[in-house]
Amino acid sequence: MTYEEKIRALAEYLKKSERSFAFSGAGVSTESGIPDFRSRGSGLWERVDPMKAASLSALRREPVQFYKFFMGVWESFVGAKPNAAHYALACLEQEKLLAGVITQNIDGLHRAAGSQEVWEVHGHMRSCRCLACSKLYPFDALLDQYRSGTNPPRCSQCGGMLRPDVVLFEDAMGEDFYKAYQALSGCQLLIVVGSSLQVYPAASLPELAKTLVIVNREPTPWDVRAGLVINEKMAGQVFTDLMTVLGLDFLGVGHRA
Ligand code: APR
Repeated sequence: MTYEEKIRALAEYLKKSERSFAFSGAGVSTESGIPDFRSRGSGLWERVDPMKAASLSALRREPVQFYKFFMGVWESFVGAKPNAAHYALACLEQEKLLAGVITQNIDGLHRAAGSQEVWEVHGHMRSCRCLACSKLYPFDALLDQYRSGTNPPRCSQCGGMLRPDVVLFEDAMGEDFYKAYQALSGCQLLIVVGSSLQVYPAASLPELAKTLVIVNREPTPWDVRAGLVINEKMAGQVFTDLMTVLGLDFLGVGHRA
């Protein structure tokens, strides 16, 4: 199949499918300037051992190091804007061609682009909580303390250490994972966008779709099970071309949001 034929085939899948979802990973945000984790040469985990930087035991054992790394990642999100792929997915939802987006990303860019139904299976950066008494705080509470030199950030109620509401390695999955699992069960179409599909249990979600489409620059373990694999171009271009074939003006969605 040529690239153009693949784009037309994806448009047909979307038009014919009863219930479609997108499942995104860090690759959907690289064109917004946020590095992903496993791209050869540029992925974050090429430079840092994830178990030493982003695990629950790393937070407990070396909190000062943990927060230095975590806040560096957070800084890479500041000022990042949704790109064409995010806006296209929001438009497909508005046009009732997509029921929602399940994302592994914590950058909030799908919501910023106007997507309404978003399941953040690896958490988000809107809140944090105390490890000792579980008191909930807005994320700014953690940010303000860190910026004023308090590392690790502390709970004002009990003095315990704060932790961000992202799913760290060794964490249990959050409730959004189970809600996404329910929503996806029996769905007709799942479009994977920018994920290496290597981290479980999130990477087990493609199992639930009758038809799988993978939009990803590099091969994934699920390619053999996919009805369509589009890796000729970056996700932003793929979705721009898809929206042209569907005759949808999608960039307006983002500006309206
Ligand atoms: N267009 C298409 N594909 C892209 C683009 C792009 N512009 N940029 C990167 N990619 C692809 C890469 O080739 C890679 O295969 O996106 C994929 C991103 O894979 P990962 O970096 O492994 O990111 P992800 O799949 O989201 O990782 C899952 O691992 O470390 C944990 O919690 C972290 O949620 C993350 C999880």
